[in-house]
Amino acid sequence: MTRDEAFKILEELKNSENMKKHGLAVGFAMAALYDYFQKNNPPADGPEMKKGDWEIAGILHDADYEITNKSLDRHTEETTKKLKEIKADQLIINAIRCHCDKAERKTLMDKSIYACDELTGLIVAAALVQPDKKLKSVSAESVMRKFKDKSFAAGANRDQINTCETGLKINLEKFVGIVLTAMQKNSEDLGL
Ligand SMILES: [Fe+2]
Repeated sequence: MTRDEAFKILEELKNSENMKKHGLAVGFAMAALYDYFQKNNPPADGPEMKKGDWEIAGILHDADYEITNKSLDRHTEETTKKLKEIKADQLIINAIRCHCDKAERKTLMDKSIYACDELTGLIVAAALVQPDKKLKSVSAESVMRKFKDKSFAAGANRDQINTCETGLKINLEKFVGIVLTAMQKNSEDLGL
């Protein structure tokens, strides 16, 4: 499956610009996490280690969030249908489904998408309170401070982000650094 096919699905499922940017942000984070695991001797994790698949899973994880009216019951079902139509890799479908508990998180890809999803939201919120509203003005230290301040972007689930330590064996500070850098490198695409 290609990145272009992923963008076609975002269009077909009528994603708003904001939602597309959220998908993109998670996609960039996933590609960076893939690189991290490639460099850092991941535990044997089988055939899901394809960078493009990791990015696409990120781009599409919330593709039907708006069209299913934010109903958790139906969330990921429309995306699954579309992906099955084009015979997408089952590992991508699983990773998308398990980010909202529709399947068990087994692979590193599954666990990565779960942990980085909410962190990208926290980082966007951290950028938007900067005077210039830019990602380049956000530091990993300030994200860590905001992470600890439960009243900041209260909707960003800290427990979910913290699974980077248990599920991925990456400490939180490092994880914040990887995801923040990935988003900063692609700030133009993210409009931040
Ligand atoms: Fe998400």
